[in-house]
Amino acid sequence: MTYNFDERIDRRGTNAESVDAFRHALFGKESETIIFPCPEEELIRMWVADMEFATPEVVVDAIRARLDRRIFGYTANLDSAYYDAFVRWTQDRYGWGFSREEMMTSKGVVPALYDLVSYLCAPDEKVLIFTPSYAPFRRAVTFHHLTCLCSPLKKDGAHYTIDFEDVSRKLEDPKVRLCIFCNPHNPTGRLWSREELERFGQLCRDKGIWIISDEIHCDLLRTGKQHIPLAKLFPDYDRIITCMSPSKTFNIAGLMISNVIIPNAELRKTWHTRQHHSENPISLVAAQAAYEKGGDWLAQLLAYLDGNMALTKEILKAELPEAKFCIPEATYLAWIDLGAYFPPEERLTRFFAAEAGVLLEDSSMFLQDGESCIRLNLASPRPVVREALGRICRAVKERGGREMPCSR
Ligand SMILES: Cc1ncc(COP(=O)(O)O)c(C=O)c1O
Repeated sequence: MTYNFDERIDRRGTNAESVDAFRHALFGKESETIIFPCPEEELIRMWVADMEFATPEVVVDAIRARLDRRIFGYTANLDSAYYDAFVRWTQDRYGWGFSREEMMTSKGVVPALYDLVSYLCAPDEKVLIFTPSYAPFRRAVTFHHLTCLCSPLKKDGAHYTIDFEDVSRKLEDPKVRLCIFCNPHNPTGRLWSREELERFGQLCRDKGIWIISDEIHCDLLRTGKQHIPLAKLFPDYDRIITCMSPSKTFNIAGLMISNVIIPNAELRKTWHTRQHHSENPISLVAAQAAYEKGGDWLAQLLAYLDGNMALTKEILKAELPEAKFCIPEATYLAWIDLGAYFPPEERLTRFFAAEAGVLLEDSSMFLQDGESCIRLNLASPRPVVREALGRICRAVKERGGREMPCSR
């Protein structure tokens, strides 16, 4: 290992959401009523999906070099340097490319989702998503007063699959115009197989339904796994929009730059007329450097995350054998079903904050169909992960001492 992922970096005083926004984001009005078991600086933060690791030095160097140019005036993605870097990345990793004109940038995947939903859907139309779901998918739909249809994923133990019968039934509704798809899937960590992608894409193509394929987690795979961009499987179907980003991969979410690949010429025209095209000059060089020079750092990060996942599995097996958890194929997020230990109505975010001093997201933050699950962000130094799991397991066991585990 060349990079020190064990380093603990103090984020206090940087307006980091993870550190400074948790009260409102996790507890809302109730935040004042929670008594933590430790001083606030000892809370372990495993909620927001960013990492506790330093951004790769090659990215920081590129930012420094840009700072040295000293002028930060209006900037646009004018030359082909960023496109070249990103398309080389997708070609090398996924065997998939696109033309320069198809590649847009946006201030984030979520802002792009909000905009694309409004460009694609008429006021009475519907959008399909899969649940449990990253909550902003539904917000992007209801924000425009459209109807959101949910297709619950099928669950077998800790393994999730698409319920194709349900999807096909829902797509019969002529008002369904768009599907927001997540691959790899947050929160379950599923990396959809070629067969699943083909079947899902085919169902949409048969009905002419648009797909926004949110592939923001596509670089964060377990060793040996291979991501397949949905659009790669349907080169002749131009209604698949792909969102990818250096933000999760290189821990630069705060720089707010992501990539949106739009093969449909008509939609690109709409995008160009309705988007503001200026770029943050720092973000642009950071993203370019990440794709050009960040591969080695990423390889080591992935090995480290594999280790954090294996540790989690081992601790849960030993300490909470009734917990349902399988190491996700992708993401740095562990989705753990604690239904054997808690009744479905238990508010687990609150429980673990108050009893363990661990900040995490429970299923209420993923819309529906994730009852009794928690999502742990494992992108932290290993000693922190170990300490968090120790606290979590202790809190569950102590609770079990007061009340028998639920029989389910
Ligand atoms: C599936 C998914 N899409 C989008 C985002 C956020 O994207 P951005 O920060 O680019 O808006 C996240 C962040 O957790 C995510 O998990």
